Amino acid sequence: MKAVGFTRSLPSSDSESLIDFDAPMPVASGHDLLVEVKAVSVNPVDYRVRRDMGPGNLGTRILGYDAAGIVTAVGSDCRLFKVGDEVYYAGELMRQGSNSQFHLVDERIVGHKPASLSWADTAAMPLTLITAWEGLFEQLRIRRDGSDSGKVLLILGGAGGVGSIMTQLAKHAGLTVITTASRPESVAQCLHYGADLVLDHTQDLKAQLAAAGHTSVHWIFSCAELDGYFTLATELLAPFGGLCTIVAPNKPVDLGLFKIKALRYSHEFMFTRSMFRMAEMIEQHTLLDAAAALFDDGTLRSTRAQTLGVINAANLRKAHAQLETTHTLGKLVLEGWG
Ligand SMILES: NC(=O)c1ccc[n+]([C@@H]2O[C@H](COP(=O)([O-])OP(=O)(O)OC[C@H]3O[C@@H](n4cnc5c(N)ncnc54)[C@H](OP(=O)(O)O)[C@@H]3O)[C@@H](O)[C@H]2O)c1
Repeated sequence: MKAVGFTRSLPSSDSESLIDFDAPMPVASGHDLLVEVKAVSVNPVDYRVRRDMGPGNLGTRILGYDAAGIVTAVGSDCRLFKVGDEVYYAGELMRQGSNSQFHLVDERIVGHKPASLSWADTAAMPLTLITAWEGLFEQLRIRRDGSDSGKVLLILGGAGGVGSIMTQLAKHAGLTVITTASRPESVAQCLHYGADLVLDHTQDLKAQLAAAGHTSVHWIFSCAELDGYFTLATELLAPFGGLCTIVAPNKPVDLGLFKIKALRYSHEFMFTRSMFRMAEMIEQHTLLDAAAALFDDGTLRSTRAQTLGVINAANLRKAHAQLETTHTLGKLVLEGWG
């Protein structure tokens, strides 16, 4: 089968950084589904793994996390899916990835594809959707039933993959959503997905909030490097508020600052459940199915911004290079095998 992989860490501008190759056909066993991959999307984790593997020959590692496709075989322990089902998922960090014509994935982290979305629009969603959902409803403990309606969420970095779906989920929960963006296109992207107010993260956020009549916020979700924002967060958060980040701080943070207001600090890492084989990894199956219903009733919209062509090394290198700018809007997708 066709696959795209890498053997050593090289810059995305190097034609050897991702390569097309023939891989053996995988065989489903246990909880695994064998999925015929129709479309994939690319996330910052793809370039981080490619870039950070260091020197030396790794064998050929297949990258790719997000995928949408059709189940072609099931392992003997599978109970949730059957051959022919259309699915979407974000995969696991340490296994061979979805940039291959056929891919093995544990059914407990797979959802049924939203019937109303195309393959490309579906493939755009799983990793950022799981991250945003777990971050809001598990880490920050925001209630989905509307009982936190009117409370204020600040999303640092609202126009990227995670911010674009998080804004939609938070609006559906009834929150007032303030995002940040630094360019006219990214401001427009935030407003398109429902942000109530967009601040410029290159300028003084506290002053911009005050000018808009907000002296504090209930929650902050950081889709960006936290170092420049941590002290500010302690000032802006209301008592009993919470800060959740998906980007690990580069410098130590002083959690003592969180004591007086009884603030909560948490990390969201969407691979934790599968990495530690947690019993509740099936929560991601449940979450993806619940979100599929929200796509199908029109509550949520795909955040696919561009389809860069078929799934091959040249197009994936373009996607990696674009994401490495850290100024991408929404999601980049590749579809079909050419
Ligand atoms: N822990 C997890 O499970 C998890 C999951 C997904 C992603 N992540 C990480 O979270 C980060 C965001 O992921 P993503 O998929 O949303 O990335 P992305 O799509 O590449 O994000 C791009 C956005 O980031 C904004 N941005 C750039 N610099 C910023 C800054 N200093 N402050 C605020 N926003 C800034 C940009 O806005 P402007 O262009 O307007 O500046 C752009 O719209 C990445 O570092 C990724 O690796 C972690």
